[in-house]
Amino acid sequence: MSAGRSMNRRDFLKLSGAGLAGATLLGAAACGGGGGEAQNGDGPIEIIFSFGPDDSGTLQEVVSRFNEEHEGEIQVNYREMPADTGQYFDQLRTEFQAGGGDIDVIGGDVIWPAQFAANGWILDLSDRFTEEDRQEFLEGPIESNTYDGSVWGVPWFTDAGMMYYRQDLLEEAGFSEPPETWDELKEMALETAEATGTQFGFVFQGAQYEGGVVNGLEYIWTHGGDALSEEGSEVTISEPPAVSGLETQRSMIDDGVSPDAVSSYKEQESHEAFLRGDAVFLRNWPYVYALAGDEGESEVSQDQIGIAPIPTGPDGGSFSGLGGWNFYINAASDPEVQDAAYEFIQFATSTEIQRFRALEGSFLPTRTELYDDQEIQDTVPVIALGRENLERSRPRPVSPVYSDMSLIMQEQFNSSLRGQKPPQQAADDAGNEMQSIVDRAESL
Ligand code: GLC
Repeated sequence: MSAGRSMNRRDFLKLSGAGLAGATLLGAAACGGGGGEAQNGDGPIEIIFSFGPDDSGTLQEVVSRFNEEHEGEIQVNYREMPADTGQYFDQLRTEFQAGGGDIDVIGGDVIWPAQFAANGWILDLSDRFTEEDRQEFLEGPIESNTYDGSVWGVPWFTDAGMMYYRQDLLEEAGFSEPPETWDELKEMALETAEATGTQFGFVFQGAQYEGGVVNGLEYIWTHGGDALSEEGSEVTISEPPAVSGLETQRSMIDDGVSPDAVSSYKEQESHEAFLRGDAVFLRNWPYVYALAGDEGESEVSQDQIGIAPIPTGPDGGSFSGLGGWNFYINAASDPEVQDAAYEFIQFATSTEIQRFRALEGSFLPTRTELYDDQEIQDTVPVIALGRENLERSRPRPVSPVYSDMSLIMQEQFNSSLRGQKPPQQAADDAGNEMQSIVDRAESL
């Protein structure tokens, strides 16, 4: 993508004061959509690649290595987007609605493809990312990229919620094993925090945002509930198992296991509390393990940390929210740029690069063979557990209206956690609002 072209268009829109509808028209007619443009012969094809902030320090290296190998042909420029997946999504949606924006390769959340594909915003990759290629990848992430019979993304790394704990502190308090149930977690968190003078028992992501939805769903699933019925047409979030999940979540604050502040914690606040040494337990994604290895970043070392599956409720098994990030290509980018973009995607999802990011950033690979890699197994234990957790992980609903459903869950889970509403009330409100969205989507 040439920056000049996108700036011209944006300036033009600004000057003309075009509204959203006008912008769509102008975007489509004047510029043939966002995306990159064919270069005029000289210089490399330039690609804009978007992703959130990179705590691991691996991303710039991936981009630089690719650029070195393709010097004079393709130049990838990384554009940093918000860490909060919902904010990142909103920014992209605004750009797509205005004609495509200038991002060519999107490092995007697993929950996005249905909505992006249904709107025609991303490229169908089924022919490029062939069935044979796909065989080498884990099934869950491929499924998360499949919508309406086509494949819309290439899985980059996968995520499954897990329970981190301070092994040293548990031992000091007389516990030799991590908890298996939420009740055990509460008891151990309270006793250990007290015995070792640790500020908090348990921290997680309770803020009103997408991560709050995943945390809330994990409580719901581990209590035997779900947000939607299996075939997706009925909202089941106000049924007793789901409500008891939200009750357990709320009890973390009521019973003093978690601070009030967890209701505004996202990934960062929660991992910082844990890595500062202020919490016995942390629910988070695999990336935290690598951060604990960074001197200067973390006061807690990898030796002090244990990892366990998400605890179970009285009537449920252990379930992790399935997360992860894929590569998508902007449907409005120029075909030549799309080809170059796919080269970058192949590079970034290659065995070599996924191995590097697994070792350096504890990102769970999406290529199956890497789970048998001895060095990864020896040095990144979070990956072995991650594999197990993936087997009991559950996706969020795959739907072109998922983002609307999510906004409702974000609000209701958070108000239950804050104690603004009893869990049953929050679940009933969520149920009613979600059902009308599901009905509307079905009648489209
Ligand atoms: C992680 C997951 C992603 C999820 C997000 C929520 O980044 O990989 O799927 O939506 O957390 O905060």
